[in-house]
Amino acid sequence: MLTGNSLTLTQLLGALPSMLLGRRRHRAALRLALASLFGVAVERIRLFDSGRAAFAALLKLHDVQAGDEVLIPAFTCVVVPNQVPPSGARVRFIDIAAGGLNLDWLALDAAIRPATRVVVVPHNFGVACEVPTWLREKHRQVRFVDDAAHGFASQLDGQWLGSYHDGAFFSFEYSKNLSGGIGGLAILPAGASLPDADLPELRCADEWRLLATLLSHLLAARWPLAGRISMALARRVGLVYRSGDDEVLFGEPHPARAMPLLASVLVRRQLASLPAVLAYKQALVSRYRSALAALPALRQWPADAATHWVRYPFALPRPVADKAALARRLSAASGLNIGVWFDDVIHPSGSFRHGYRAGQAPHGEALAATVLNLPVNIAIGVDAALERKLARLLAALQVELDA
Ligand SMILES: Cc1ncc(COP(=O)(O)O)c(C=O)c1O
Repeated sequence: MLTGNSLTLTQLLGALPSMLLGRRRHRAALRLALASLFGVAVERIRLFDSGRAAFAALLKLHDVQAGDEVLIPAFTCVVVPNQVPPSGARVRFIDIAAGGLNLDWLALDAAIRPATRVVVVPHNFGVACEVPTWLREKHRQVRFVDDAAHGFASQLDGQWLGSYHDGAFFSFEYSKNLSGGIGGLAILPAGASLPDADLPELRCADEWRLLATLLSHLLAARWPLAGRISMALARRVGLVYRSGDDEVLFGEPHPARAMPLLASVLVRRQLASLPAVLAYKQALVSRYRSALAALPALRQWPADAATHWVRYPFALPRPVADKAALARRLSAASGLNIGVWFDDVIHPSGSFRHGYRAGQAPHGEALAATVLNLPVNIAIGVDAALERKLARLLAALQVELDA
């Protein structure tokens, strides 16, 4: 998995001395920088250790409680539904649009019931969408909360994703648009406020683990051998950071913590280079888009030109029995890191089901069985080497399509 999509080695190494300034100063500075980017009051910007913790805070803000239900798109990551049961509310999955990445507004309208309190609005792969005004006016008891984990700094018709519904949560985990190792952001709705919670800090050893893991990821993206050596060393001395298995296997909710110091420094550094990074990624994606268009059987999705893609998705015309094996074959053939997100309606496959029954969301299931993705990472040059890799990818895909 290619991660650290917008992060450079210089930004990572340069973060170390400035960490001496301390957590509070860095977090305060990051909140100001984010408020200025999104054009919102700083009180609306809240930082956490993860997107899931930011989501849990928004559920509290909207006073979600027993007897309520929260609608979650059936094409999501398990840590999203995991945050609902502690509120006492019930999770209900809603299918995504046929052939789409996000929701179908008519189907959502039909699914909303009197007990529906929150709808999680997906923006999968960073493709921003907006709930139509008629739907919001028809269901005034419902709060529409953006799962913007894949779309930090995506725009829709000139509006920042996360600024136009009833609050949004973002992720700065390794593989997201901006990487802090881990990290999360909630943008509260206008006029809302959350009491200042003194969240527990990440252990110091974990900050070092984040640093070592990020470093290995960044090396791997640039010099694969150096990355492998660095990761093996980090593993050997117990310096690899990963989140708990209980969340994936048993649906355990996540105990919220403060944003790590390293993440608050790194995210601010990436904000400083954001305009150039966005332009670079958009050039990369437009190259992907036109290359894949040579195989019209592959599905691609339209999106606003100002989309900040977390990875670039494309789908095969038929379900694949073993998508992970296909991704490995395509990666080996092309030299590009082909991903499988999401490999199930509740990703990752094999994770806790939250009552989901097979067949309940046929469109989400069809997408999970067919979608693959290309990395959108500044370490990938838009150059002749990319052209050669894309040519090899197309040839390998053609073989799959002909099989
Ligand atoms: C769609 C989606 N929402 C939310 C999250 C949660 O973000 P975090 O890992 O920062 O808690 C993820 C994480 O991968 C995700 O893919």
